[in-house]
Amino acid sequence: MGAISFSFFDTVTYTPPDAIFELTKTYNADLAARKVNLGQGTYKDENGNPWILPAVRAAKEKIKESNHEYLPILGLPSFRVLATELVFGKDSAVIQEKRVASCQALSGTGALHVAGTMLMRAFGRDRTVYITNPSWSNHRQVFESVGFGVKEFNYSLSGGVDMQSFLQSLNEAAPKSIFVFHASAHNPSGWDPSPEQWKQIGSIVKERQLFPIFDAAYLGLTSGDYDRDAFAIRYFAEEIGLEIAVCLSFAKSMGLYGERIGLCAFVSRTRTLATAVESTLAQLIRFEISNPPAFGARIVAAVLEDVDIDAEWRRNLATMSSRIAEMRLQLYQELTELGTPGDWKRLMEQKGMFCILGLTPDQVQHLQNEYHIYMAESSRISIPGLNRSNVRYVAECIHQTVKR
Ligand SMILES: Cc1ncc(COP(=O)(O)O)c(C=O)c1O
Repeated sequence: MGAISFSFFDTVTYTPPDAIFELTKTYNADLAARKVNLGQGTYKDENGNPWILPAVRAAKEKIKESNHEYLPILGLPSFRVLATELVFGKDSAVIQEKRVASCQALSGTGALHVAGTMLMRAFGRDRTVYITNPSWSNHRQVFESVGFGVKEFNYSLSGGVDMQSFLQSLNEAAPKSIFVFHASAHNPSGWDPSPEQWKQIGSIVKERQLFPIFDAAYLGLTSGDYDRDAFAIRYFAEEIGLEIAVCLSFAKSMGLYGERIGLCAFVSRTRTLATAVESTLAQLIRFEISNPPAFGARIVAAVLEDVDIDAEWRRNLATMSSRIAEMRLQLYQELTELGTPGDWKRLMEQKGMFCILGLTPDQVQHLQNEYHIYMAESSRISIPGLNRSNVRYVAECIHQTVKR
């Protein structure tokens, strides 16, 4: 027999690794005694360690005797009920009218994927998905992977949301286009529309028959108050009665990064439509993963169904968001005291885990090579990577780098 001269994989080309995961890998391999990871958006405590929320510890204790059977296709029923009430509010009309279809999903990313697949079924290929520019690096590929064309619209200026461009894009998009909104703590800009601005956005979305997907990865962590952070979602679904999708993640809000626990929820106009949507979600889940993983869902349900653990969790949210606020303030104060050239007010004004510092890629690289401070190439920093023992060092290194 002759030698085989071809490969079935000849057409497969090398795909570069994801930039942020690669940055963490490089950081972990860095042997420097003093190094700081401001890349990946995960919460760290004051000592730079991952934080297992006390509420999550208590919930895990409660579920430790659970069995290992399959969950239903749509996920743990108590999780779906409680997570839906959490997002829309306990007294929500859309819940009472049974107009919410939901399924458990593999964290926020999995929820976006299910939402995209569902919308491809419902709308077909000739719809466009609009995402913000800048946006979370995964949005484009999640929606392209299910077959949609993806376009970007200018979202932010150095001083806030670029409302003019935002409203113009809504006005110019074809009816039934899909818009991905960040429900709170826009990643990476940190700028969110105010409630008044959400109202303006909502009225155009309604008038022009656009479909909003709310990517809700940071609810509760943005202001420390879950209900407040859910304003835009509730306003669209309840106040102005729109059909929407919500892609919810518990990675950040409960620190359940590795458990991959999220919810994909669709609000429909009628109960009958919601039943049809939910049956389709069940089919999508069945052929993709058959049924979702149980551990994270059990933890979330155990937190939300117990009054005391739920109250503890609300305190944990406040702890995380206030530590983030404190670190924003400290970095701002250090840079201002040093007289470092740059617009640092943004550290105080932007919301959530991230801030784009406005450094050049060359300065970002210098901080990494010279001082072992790691951040995304866009100079987006993850604020929880800062703590009292490194914030001064980070400020001084930024100062030296900018003055170079
Ligand atoms: C805007 C945004 N959406 C969704 C996610 C999804 O995260 P996960 O899949 O870990 O829940 C993230 C995570 O960084 C994010 O920043």
